[in-house]
Amino acid sequence: MRMYDIILKKRDGGVLDRSEIEFWIGGCVRGTIPDYQTAALLMAIYFRGLSRRETSDLTLSMYKSGDTVDLSELPGIKVDKHSTGGVGDKTTLVLAPLVASAGVPVAKMSGRGLGHTGGTVDKLESIPGFRVEMDRREFIRQVGKIGLAVVAQTGNLVPADKKLYSLRDVTATVDQVSLIAASIMSKKLASGAGAVVLDVKAGRGAFMKDAEGAEDLARLMVDIGSSLGLRTAALITAMDQPLGLAVGNALEVREAIETLQGGGPGDLRELSLVIGAEMVVLAGRARTTSEAREMLEKNLVSGMALAKFREMISAQGGDPAVLDNPGLIPEAAGKTAIKAESGGYLSRCDAMGIGLAAMNLGAGRETKESAIDLAAGVVLHKKEGQRVAAGEVLATLHHNPGARLEMAVELARRSFAVQQSPPPAGPLIIRKI
Ligand code: URA
Repeated sequence: MRMYDIILKKRDGGVLDRSEIEFWIGGCVRGTIPDYQTAALLMAIYFRGLSRRETSDLTLSMYKSGDTVDLSELPGIKVDKHSTGGVGDKTTLVLAPLVASAGVPVAKMSGRGLGHTGGTVDKLESIPGFRVEMDRREFIRQVGKIGLAVVAQTGNLVPADKKLYSLRDVTATVDQVSLIAASIMSKKLASGAGAVVLDVKAGRGAFMKDAEGAEDLARLMVDIGSSLGLRTAALITAMDQPLGLAVGNALEVREAIETLQGGGPGDLRELSLVIGAEMVVLAGRARTTSEAREMLEKNLVSGMALAKFREMISAQGGDPAVLDNPGLIPEAAGKTAIKAESGGYLSRCDAMGIGLAAMNLGAGRETKESAIDLAAGVVLHKKEGQRVAAGEVLATLHHNPGARLEMAVELARRSFAVQQSPPPAGPLIIRKI
């Protein structure tokens, strides 16, 4: 078999068979196929697409390219959750302890943030002492003991994705639906869960700018998951404006704690309950999502979810006193207010713009190697649809010396628009697949 012929076949609109996909992925990971040939095939796929069968074969080949996590010694159905990436999306911080408090084991491997989107692992590292690196045995032992662990992805999990993603990133081939689906689902399969709930974001701050594109991606992932034995559900959720009010690692941890304490912003609480209920049903702990939601609401009010978070923080070396005294979480020295120039209704609070402003303050990484400032970020004071008066503070930028403050101020200012009449309100949960 020759890589040249595979590229030619896809370039001319052909359908690759499983052996050709396996040849490509195997050679790409071993280094016997040069990057320029993989890059050329990625571009051909970008223009020609992949069928459902090709996407499923690609997912399987990628999944088999490295180590897999075996969670079979843990009792029950292990349910994972994945978000396609948003701004201010700290749901995992709320969901993991919330769902674990309902008796569903949560063994979660999370990533770091890149670009305008954040990563759960960075957020957890703003808890003093919290350890995200853990070997496989310790990870499984902790889930066995307390029903919950959230750690950084370690080892050689899906090396094909690392290789392909780095090439997609520099060849303008990231936003191709089959490549995204195979990337996400291969990692979910390798992480050892038996079921997964996918939160597919749609809107200005997401990969998928509209609900139709997000739905195509969600349906594809649900089909692939189901065909490969992973029980998969998906929700399409709005990502036009940031989720909650806080954007930035330590700021988001504070907001997650407030939510676990029974408060927090309404959209974050709602999304956590909706995804959580799906996870509890997939795990077989409730028959319906309304029954599951009731359990979860009770655990938020009774403090059981917060207690589970406390257990996890202690087990992973963090200081649980942060839950009683959020002042222990890093705080930025500088605060800069962004004010409304005119009064009316907030019609736009652009997630992408706010995410980029937070990145310029130091909260996010421009490249994988960039250092981040855990305390930096943006706190919103208004969300879309709310009334604002001229001169009222719309957002506060949190920054330390070294931040690109001028750029962040400009990006944040441009993210807001105010109009005279109330804008139409879109739903948070757009659709369930
Ligand atoms: N998230 C992933 O894990 N992979 C993609 O390709 C896109 C988003």
